[in-house]
Amino acid sequence: MNETVQQVLYDAARLALAAPSIFNTQPWLWAVGPDRLELRADRTRQLRVVDPDARLLTISCGVALHHATTALAGNAVDTVLLPDPADRDLLAVLHLSGEAASGRTLAQLRRAITTRRTDRRPFSQAPVPAHTLDRLVAACAQQGAHLYQVPYQHLATLALAAVAAGALHLSNPDYRVELADWTHRPLWSGDGVPVETAVEASARRVPVRDFAPFGGDTLPAGSDNDFGALYAIVYTDTDSTGSWLSAGMSLSAILLTATAAGLGTAPISDVTEAGAIREQLRQILPSGYPQVAVRLGHPQTGEPPATPRRPPEEVISLVRA
Ligand SMILES: Cc1cc2nc3c(=O)[nH]c(=O)nc-3n(C[C@H](O)[C@H](O)[C@H](O)COP(=O)(O)O)c2cc1C
Repeated sequence: MNETVQQVLYDAARLALAAPSIFNTQPWLWAVGPDRLELRADRTRQLRVVDPDARLLTISCGVALHHATTALAGNAVDTVLLPDPADRDLLAVLHLSGEAASGRTLAQLRRAITTRRTDRRPFSQAPVPAHTLDRLVAACAQQGAHLYQVPYQHLATLALAAVAAGALHLSNPDYRVELADWTHRPLWSGDGVPVETAVEASARRVPVRDFAPFGGDTLPAGSDNDFGALYAIVYTDTDSTGSWLSAGMSLSAILLTATAAGLGTAPISDVTEAGAIREQLRQILPSGYPQVAVRLGHPQTGEPPATPRRPPEEVISLVRA
């Protein structure tokens, strides 16, 4: 057994626990072997109401996968997606195949893993620079999905989709139970979305998902209004499990690249959760299937509170040779 390789793989899985996930469910399991790292879906953590097809679960696992490969910067990594058709929970296997150039950009992305947070507060009026958008588009494409910047004339479609999604969700008693469950977790669980990371309601270009409809201490909205925010949609050519993984890897690349550039980030998936609303969003895309939207911009001072993570021993297992 090569202890060193196993330790490197363990450290990557450990760092990847910081990945964002739908409702902070952290629906993944890592198995670290002497020379391979396996990523499995933990379907016990699937959101039955929000995510009946496990699409957002798979996207979340794709985010974690890209976090792990970023954590392995300096190594050449072979990644095989969905290696076993008979084992649909095995989402990816990673092997190290030597050394690779790391470079400043990768080091910055690696650092961004620990500094990134979902920021639901409005962003400022200052626009996202065009050269940063170019880098985000390229980072997304490198992981297999496409990034579509929602142009001004289609912002109303996105805003209406978000309003419709919120109304549809909150009028569904089963959604309210699921949301209450994941926003009121016991401390020991190390998961879920604390109400303190939600933001008080205010006039926004596109409303954000309400994580505090049952009350609680939320963040003040401040005086910013999202007027400089960039809204973009991660979309894929097909709508398969493999595409969902790519969408997650792309989302991770976007979030880490934006964080490294000093931007605030917030994924938005409610607009893709109901079939009819997702279809409205699909109409504004050049082609393909919307997987998840994202809001990026210049954040207010001070960071939103951190969200918890599950203890590594619950999520990462060591496999002996
Ligand atoms: C696939 C996916 C979908 C998400 N959807 C939303 C959303 O619709 N609204 C939102 O405010 N946050 C959304 N998030 C952000 C998660 O709630 C957040 O990652 C999680 O609570 C952990 O917090 P952190 O990102 O600050 O680490 C999403 C994240 C992922 C990966």
